[in-house]
Amino acid sequence: MEKVRIEDLQVGMIVGKSIFAPNGVILIREKAVITAPILSKMKELGLPAAYIITSPDGTTSEDLVSEATRIDLVRSLSKLDSQVRAGQNLNILSSKQPLYTLIDEIISNQKSLIGMADIRLHGDYIYGHSVNVCTIAVKIGILLGYNQLKLSELGIGALFHDIGMTKIPLQVLDKTSNLTNDEVKLIQTHPEAGFGMLKENQAISMVSAHVAYQHHERYDGSGYPRGIAGESIHEFARITTVADVYDSMTTEKIYRRAKSSAETLQFIQSKRGTEFDPDIVDLLKQIIL
Ligand SMILES: [Fe+2]
Repeated sequence: MEKVRIEDLQVGMIVGKSIFAPNGVILIREKAVITAPILSKMKELGLPAAYIITSPDGTTSEDLVSEATRIDLVRSLSKLDSQVRAGQNLNILSSKQPLYTLIDEIISNQKSLIGMADIRLHGDYIYGHSVNVCTIAVKIGILLGYNQLKLSELGIGALFHDIGMTKIPLQVLDKTSNLTNDEVKLIQTHPEAGFGMLKENQAISMVSAHVAYQHHERYDGSGYPRGIAGESIHEFARITTVADVYDSMTTEKIYRRAKSSAETLQFIQSKRGTEFDPDIVDLLKQIIL
C-alpha cells in the first residue's frame, strides 16, 4: 500500500483505506476502485492524498488499529464535541469501550506505526488526530511495561488531550488566514480549559486530566501554560507531547504539507533532551522503525 497525492491519483486505482467525513461516515470504502466521479468528488472535498493498493494480493493488513475501532472512537469524539458545544456535560462513556478495544488491539497485533491511517479531511482533523495520539501513546506505554490500568489512564488522557478545544469558537479553529495574537492566546487556553472539564468528571482519573493540562509543556520548561519542566511534567503528558508532535507533523494541514515519518523523527530527535524527554524520544524511534 502506498500513499499517493491527490494530483497523482488515477481512475482504476484501488483505495487501500477507507476515507471518512468528519462525522465518521465513509466517503470512499477500502478496496473501492477509483472512478472518474469518485476522483472529482475527492478533489472537490480537498482530500490531500489516498492510500492505494499496490501489491498484487491487495493486502491492507498494515493497520495497527482496526477500522471499526477507529470509526467508533472518531464518531464518539465527534459526538462529544457537538454535545459540549451545545452546552451539555462531557459524557465519555461511549468512548471508553472502543478505547479498551483499541488498547487490546495494540497489545495483540505488535505492528509498527507506519501505515497508520492519516488521511483526513480538515474537519476530521481533531478527532482523527486524537485517536492517532492515543494509539502512539498507548504503544509507548506498552514498551514502558504499563499494566492495563495505567494504559487506560494514559489512553484516556491522550484521547482527550485536546478536549479543551471544544471551548474555542469554530470560527477561530476553522480560520484559514493567519491568526491574530489574541486568537493565538485564546487557543493556548485549551490545556487549562480541558483540565477544568476533565477534573470535574467522575469517570476520569486526575492523572488523565493532567495530560490535557500538561501536553504543551516542554521538557526544558519552554512550554505552556505553566512552564514546568523535566519530571515535574507527568510521564503520561511527556509521552502524549511526543505523540502529539509526531502525528501533527506527519499530517497534511491546509497551510502545509505533511512531513515524512523520517523527517519528523529527525526533527523530534533534534530536540531530544531539550523540548522532549530523551527516553520517550528513543521509544518513539523504536515503534516507528
Ligand atoms: Fe493541544
